[in-house]
Amino acid sequence: MDKERDILILGIESSCDDTSASVIKNGFLLSNIIAGQKVHEAYGGVVPELASRAHQQNIIPVVDQAIKQAVVKPEDITAIAFTRGPGLLGSLLVGTSFAKGFSLATGAPMIEINHLQAHVLAHFIQEYDQPYDPPKFPFLCLLVSGGNSQIILVKDYLDMEVIGQTIDDAAGEAFDKCAKVMGLPYPGGPFVDKLAKEGNPDAFKFSKPRIPNFDYSFSGLKTSFLYALRDQLKENENFIEERKADLCASLQKTIIDILLDKLIKAAKETGIREITVAGGVSANSGLRNALIETAAKRHWKMHIPKFAFTTDNAAMIAMTGHYKYLKGEFIGMDAVPFARMDIRV
Ligand code: KG4
Repeated sequence: MDKERDILILGIESSCDDTSASVIKNGFLLSNIIAGQKVHEAYGGVVPELASRAHQQNIIPVVDQAIKQAVVKPEDITAIAFTRGPGLLGSLLVGTSFAKGFSLATGAPMIEINHLQAHVLAHFIQEYDQPYDPPKFPFLCLLVSGGNSQIILVKDYLDMEVIGQTIDDAAGEAFDKCAKVMGLPYPGGPFVDKLAKEGNPDAFKFSKPRIPNFDYSFSGLKTSFLYALRDQLKENENFIEERKADLCASLQKTIIDILLDKLIKAAKETGIREITVAGGVSANSGLRNALIETAAKRHWKMHIPKFAFTTDNAAMIAMTGHYKYLKGEFIGMDAVPFARMDIRV
């Protein structure tokens, strides 16, 4: 592709507690800068008001760094893609307003991005000098994060359908809430993962939901975990400390079993064997191993993205922006963010 026709997309992500900016050129990653927010650790969860303030502080330096690292100039950007939703409204407002300012200053058109769609399309990010083996359509995506647990049927880049989703808590919430009860820091998922490696996954049994179709539920597990601890603590006040690794291993196994049961059911019923995973919880080593084992047994082609592209990042926003740019899908200055947003948008 000659220089005049290069497609340079600047992606902006600010839906929760990570401020991120990325530049993608013709589908190839040039930069992906992410600024996390430590301020929430003291509260054991994301505080929306503090998240928006931190985004406001971070957004200019993060974009500046992304543009510099990509060795481009703001006026070279073909279009600016920003997360319009779903997410925390105050956080989304920062990215949306920044996109408008950038668009006015440079003339680059704006592209709205659905954060969930972007998680799915993270599989298509290309990196120079790296192998590239993206999933083939149609495929299933298990999207598991702090806010979502869904099974998505992906028919094309911009044609997706949620065929199953949680009716209460997300898988990440189940990890984080149970971790909190054990006194682990926030977010607890990675700590549970680490401790689980030294524990016995069959030491404790926690309840699994019985709900129809491809939907998930994690609130029953949370309650069952809480009651088990309460009963044991009556007998032994050091129970959590003494059995932490076993508790983590058993909790993790239960969450993985719940996730895989419905994914296997969806693969069977749709006849699709091209399977992908996305979202922060896909960093879990137990889940990754279970997916690889299941894929080998069931002859699935399994796609697990690089860790950096599983959690919230702007590279996936820019990548989705690239496909929307090719279809000429732009949005005007009157765009407002949405806390909730259907995956089809
Ligand atoms: O996609 P993500 O970065 O953003 C939100 O949805 O907010 O996902 C964050 C979630 C948190 O619940 C975190 O505990 C979980 O992903 N997580 C993990 C691991 N790494 C992150 N859960 C289990 N094991 C991990 N290794």
